[in-house]
Amino acid sequence: MSVSNSFRLGSPDVFPPAERHVYLDAASVGLSHKGGAEAISKWQNALAEEGTIAFDEQAEVECLDNLNAATASLFNATVDDIAIASSETVLMQSLAWAVMPESGSRIIATDITHPSTIYPWMRVSDHTGAQVHWIRADDSQTIDPDELEASIDDSTSVVCLSQCEYGTGQQYDLKRFADKAHRHGAILVVDATQSAGQVPVDACSGVDAVATSTYKWLCGPFGTGMMYVSPALQQLNPGILGWRSHKDMWDFQADRLELANNAKRYEFGTMAYGTAFGATESVRHLLETGIENVAAHNAQVSKHLIAGLQDLGAEVLGPKDDANRSATVAVRFPGKNSRDFAKTLKDANVIASLRRDFIRFSPHYYNNIDDIDQGLKAIKAAL
Ligand SMILES: Cc1ncc(COP(=O)(O)O)c(C=O)c1O
Repeated sequence: MSVSNSFRLGSPDVFPPAERHVYLDAASVGLSHKGGAEAISKWQNALAEEGTIAFDEQAEVECLDNLNAATASLFNATVDDIAIASSETVLMQSLAWAVMPESGSRIIATDITHPSTIYPWMRVSDHTGAQVHWIRADDSQTIDPDELEASIDDSTSVVCLSQCEYGTGQQYDLKRFADKAHRHGAILVVDATQSAGQVPVDACSGVDAVATSTYKWLCGPFGTGMMYVSPALQQLNPGILGWRSHKDMWDFQADRLELANNAKRYEFGTMAYGTAFGATESVRHLLETGIENVAAHNAQVSKHLIAGLQDLGAEVLGPKDDANRSATVAVRFPGKNSRDFAKTLKDANVIASLRRDFIRFSPHYYNNIDDIDQGLKAIKAAL
């Protein structure tokens, strides 16, 4: 599908700042869905004005239901399989303590994964005596998927992957690694913070758990995270417990705890509930747009960016083939200090991120080809 250079799939009515900046930073913080941001303010203002008159106990029970349903659609799962809390990190932490990989077993992770994907598992391993086995990236920051697959064996308890790497956008085939993990009695746990909203995240691929925050590719707020957990993992004892973990959260009887008999047992406490209203709006918008359409649009924009950067002599990191990439593009400019260069770009209103020693561009569905051409022009001038 070829579209005009000015076409933004995520409309400027919903993402007005997309027309004011060359905003290529979804992997850091995505532009917020306008209606989502308004929903959060509305809730906060009503709470400030009226307290429990505006937000009573019934509302506190029901406030996550719409986000739960939207997340189930997003992950191709059922509502019973979804838990909501304040971030990917807390949900992954709770899961890691539930799974408690046994002494001597191996947790497979890449050395370019995000700290929040693997630190929870490292902490639990310190306690149980499990070990992290690192798959090392090559000089272009690429993981060899064959090496990753071959490393999964009978000693593996957990394969812990970010579906898209935060730095380079390298994308993994979840079914391939879920199948291999299961053949060896292991589980596949996935951090979708860099994938949910830009590429399909399919619970039916066999993944055992998927956790995400909402403020990147889902264009939602800080302060909300969602997790899919398989029926088997819904039987475990979560690592973080609180009053919301009880199947009737208004039970309030401290000397007994009956966990919810679905994924909700991984919810645990009061959160900034209004953020869930915002996240619901932004996830619904992505679902209405169609994640496949978003992925196709972003691939086209990202490909144009890569070609333009290569023409300017940049070294593009990550996989060479499109099939293993997402929209994120990480580059080094020979002879340039990435830190200084990222600042120069920001001054030219081209918004990207410095990560380690490279610059990361992450266009999303509110971007168009004209943005990329404008960004490339600024880069050329700065070089
Ligand atoms: C893959 C991945 N996981 C997790 C996080 C952050 O987690 P949290 O929102 O829980 O702080 C990031 C942020 O950059 C990320 O890229």
